[in-house]
Amino acid sequence: MRFSVRLLCRIVCLFFCLQSHADDIEQSLLRGQYLAQVAGCISCHTADNGATNAGGRRFDTDLGVVYSTNITSDNKTGMGRYSYTEFYNALHYGQGKQRQLLPIMPFNSFKLLTERDTLALYRYYMSIPAVVRQLPRNQLHFPLNYDIALNGWGWLQQRQAWLSISHHKKNDNKAVQTTSSHGEQWQRGRYIVEAVAGCGRCHTPKSVLSQPDNSRRLAGAINQNFYAPNITAAELRRQNWTQQDLRQLFRQGYSSRHGTVLTGAYAVPYHYLKPLSKGDMDAAISYLLDTEQPVIANRPVNYGHNQKLPGYQTYQGYCAGCHGLNGEGIEQVAPAMIGNSTLNAQQPFNSVAIILKGVKPRHVEALMGFYEMPDYGEEFNNQTLADLVNYLRTTWSRQTTLLTANDVADIRQRFEPNH
Ligand code: HEC
Ligand code: HEC
Ligand code: HEC
Repeated sequence: MRFSVRLLCRIVCLFFCLQSHADDIEQSLLRGQYLAQVAGCISCHTADNGATNAGGRRFDTDLGVVYSTNITSDNKTGMGRYSYTEFYNALHYGQGKQRQLLPIMPFNSFKLLTERDTLALYRYYMSIPAVVRQLPRNQLHFPLNYDIALNGWGWLQQRQAWLSISHHKKNDNKAVQTTSSHGEQWQRGRYIVEAVAGCGRCHTPKSVLSQPDNSRRLAGAINQNFYAPNITAAELRRQNWTQQDLRQLFRQGYSSRHGTVLTGAYAVPYHYLKPLSKGDMDAAISYLLDTEQPVIANRPVNYGHNQKLPGYQTYQGYCAGCHGLNGEGIEQVAPAMIGNSTLNAQQPFNSVAIILKGVKPRHVEALMGFYEMPDYGEEFNNQTLADLVNYLRTTWSRQTTLLTANDVADIRQRFEPNH
C-alpha cells in the first residue's frame, strides 16, 4: 500500500513537472515569436511578395548588394540544420555557417540579447514550417566578394570590437555605474532600444570597419543614402519630442506634430516598434527621453517669408500647392513644414534627398494617408536646390548652417547607380 502511494506521488509529480516544462516551452515559443517581430527578423528576412521568413530581401549597402537568407526550418535552403550554438554565433557574432556575415544583419545589437531570448528565438524558428527557397548570390565589391577576405574582415572587426572595449573601459564602467542607479523600467527600455530593436544600427555613427562608435551612441549618422538623425535624449527633448509624439511615431510611422518619417527611403517601415507590447513601448520611450542634462524644449518656429531670398519663388511655384502657402501643410495631402523635424535636423541631408528623389504615396493607416511627393532631381540644378533648402530651413527651423551647391552635388552623387 505504502509503495503504491509513493508511486502515485511520483506519477503525479512527474505529470506536473512535464506540464510546467511544457508551459515553459510554450511561453518561450510565444516570446520567440514576439521577438521575431520586434527585432525585425521577419521584416528583413521576407522579400516583397515572398514567403514569410524565406529571405531574399535585397539591401543596397556601402559594401555591395546583400540578400537576406532563408531562416525557415528547411534543411537545405533554410536553418533546419543549425544547432543552437551555430544560431547563437550567427546572432551574437555574425559568424555564419559558411562565412562571416555582413553587418546589415544586426549582430552588433543582437550580441546584447540575453541567453533566454536567444533560445526563445531559436525554438520559435525551429518550430515554423520549412519553406524551400534558393536565393540570389550577394554582389559585394572587391575584395569582399571573396569569402577569405570576408572572413579576414570579420576577424578584424572582432579584434576592433575588443580593442574598443578595452579602450573605452573607463566609459564603460561609468555606463555600468549609471545603469545600476536606473530603475527596472529604464533597463527594460534600454534592452528594447539597444539589443532588440537595434536603433543604433542606423542612428549611431560608425568607425572604421563599420563598427558602431559607442562613445557617440544614437548621435546621428549618414548611411548609404539617408541620414538617421541624432536621437539622443537631449536632442529629442530640444526638438520638443514628447512621449505622445514618440508613441504616435512608433505605432503609426507618423507624427502629426513633427512631420513624417521617411519610410520610403529604407526597407523596414515603422521603426520596428509597431508590435511592441504597451509595457515595452512605455519603457523604450522613457529610456529614449531620459537625460540628466537640463534641456530647453524648442517651440516650432515660423519666421515668415523673406521674399528677397532666392528660394522663395521656387517654394511658392513648386511646393506651396501641397505644403501650404505658409508652410502649414494640408491634411491628408502633405505634412506641414512648420515644426517639421526633417527640416530641423542638424544635417540637411534628408531634406535634400527627399526633394531629389521624392516619396511614393502611402497609407499610414486605413484612413490616414499622403499624396506622393514628386521628385525634382532632374528639374533643379544644385544651386537652385541649395537655395531652396536654405530657404526652408531659415524660414521654418532653428538651423542656421547654409548649404552650398557642392554639398548638394555630394548628396546627389550617392544616388547615382554606380556609387
Ligand atoms: C536589418 C535586416 C535584418 C534583421 C533585422 C535581421 N536580419 Fe538576419 N540577416 C540579414 C541579412 C541581410 C543576412 C545575410 C547577411 C550576409 O549574407 O552576410 C542575414 C543573415 C542571418 C543569418 C545567417 C544565415 C546563414 O546562412 O548563415 C541568420 C541565422 C539570421 N540572419 C537570423 C536572424 C534573426 C533570428 C533575426 C532576428 C532576431 C534577424 N536575422 C534579423 C538581415 C537581417
Ligand atoms: C534602417 C535605419 C533606421 C533604423 C533601424 C532606425 N531608424 Fe530611426 N530614423 C531613420 C531615418 C532615416 C530617420 C529620419 C526620417 C526623416 O528625416 O523623416 C529616422 C528618424 C527617427 C526619429 C525622428 C527623429 C527626428 O528628429 O526626426 C526617431 C525618434 C527615431 N528615428 C527613433 C528610432 C528608434 C527608437 C529606433 C529603434 C527602434 C530607430 N529609430 C531605428 C532610420 C532608422
Ligand atoms: C504633390 C504634393 C507635393 C508637392 C508638390 C511637394 N511635396 Fe513635399 N511632400 C509631400 C508629401 C506627401 C510628403 C510626405 C511623404 C511621406 O513621407 O510619405 C512630403 C514631404 C516633404 C518633406 C519631408 C518632410 C517629412 O516630414 O519627412 C520635405 C522637406 C518636402 N516635402 C519639401 C518639399 C519641397 C521643397 C517641395 C517643392 C520643391 C515639395 N515638397 C513639393 C507632397 C508634396
